[in-house]
Amino acid sequence: VGCEIAGIKGVQRLMHENTATALAYGIFKDIRKEFTKDKPTNVMFIDFGCTSYSVSICAFEPGKLTVKSSHFDQELGGRDFDLLIATWLAGEFEAKYKGKLSGKPAERPKTMNKLIAAAEKAKKTLSPAGVKEARINLECLMDDLDFGTTLKADKYEEMCAPLLARLEGPVKRALEEASLQASDLVSVEIVGGSTRIGCVKRTLAGILGLDASATNNGLSSTMNADEAVSR
Ligand SMILES: Nc1ncnc2c1ncn2[C@@H]1O[C@H](COP(=O)(O)OP(=O)(O)OP(=O)(O)O)[C@@H](O)[C@H]1O
Ligand SMILES: [Mg+2]
Repeated sequence: VGCEIAGIKGVQRLMHENTATALAYGIFKDIRKEFTKDKPTNVMFIDFGCTSYSVSICAFEPGKLTVKSSHFDQELGGRDFDLLIATWLAGEFEAKYKGKLSGKPAERPKTMNKLIAAAEKAKKTLSPAGVKEARINLECLMDDLDFGTTLKADKYEEMCAPLLARLEGPVKRALEEASLQASDLVSVEIVGGSTRIGCVKRTLAGILGLDASATNNGLSSTMNADEAVSR
C-alpha cells in the first residue's frame, strides 16, 4: 500500500534497509573480488537516523551475503537530541522571564516547534570536533519576547549522556548473536544523519574499542550517509 501511495508500481519484493545498505557496500567489492571463500568478511553496519537506531552484522563471501544479526532501538534517533535541547531551551527561557509569561513554553506547540527547529540547528553546529559552542537566537518566541542563549559543547554532551548510553545495547547484542568479538570486524560502516554527531562517533568507537584518535574515530564512512539505503 505504501508503494502505491508513493506511486511505485510493480513492486516485486521488499528489502530491509540494513540489507540494502549491506548490498550497496558489497556489490562492487564482490565484483573486485575482495572477498574470500575460506574467511568471511564481517562488517558491522550502524544506521542512526532521525527516528531510529540499528546495528547489523553481515558476512561477505564471494557472491554471497549473510545477515548474521540485527538489533535496534526504534525509539532512539536524532529527534531525541533535538527534543532534549529544545526542552533545555524552554527551561532557560522560562527562568529568564520568571512569572512574566502567559503560560508554560513547553505546553505551547508553536513555541516548541520554534525551539525544536533551533535545537536541530544548534545540534548540527555542535557536530564537528573542535566546535565549542552554538549560539541560538529566537525572535518572538512567546508573548512577543525574544530569546538568545549559547549552548556550550560540554553542556550539550552532558545532556546527551542518557541517549549516548543507549548506543551500547544493540551493538553488544548484535555481536553476541553473531558470536563475534569487535576485533573480528573488518570494518564498522556508519550511515544515517545522526552518525555525524561528534559524541555519538566517540561513544561508538569506545564501545567497539576502536582507535579514537584515527580519522572518524576509527569508524568507516565509505558509504554516503544520506543515500546508502536507497542506492
Ligand atoms: N551534521 C549533522 N549533525 C547532527 N545531526 C545531523 C546532521 N545532519 C543530519 N543530522 C540528523 O540526522 C537525522 C536524519 O538522518 P537520516 O536522514 O539518516 O534519517 P532517516 O533515514 O530519515 O530516519 P530513520 O532512518 O531514523 O527513520 C536528523 O535527525 C538530522 O537532524
Ligand atoms: Mg534511515
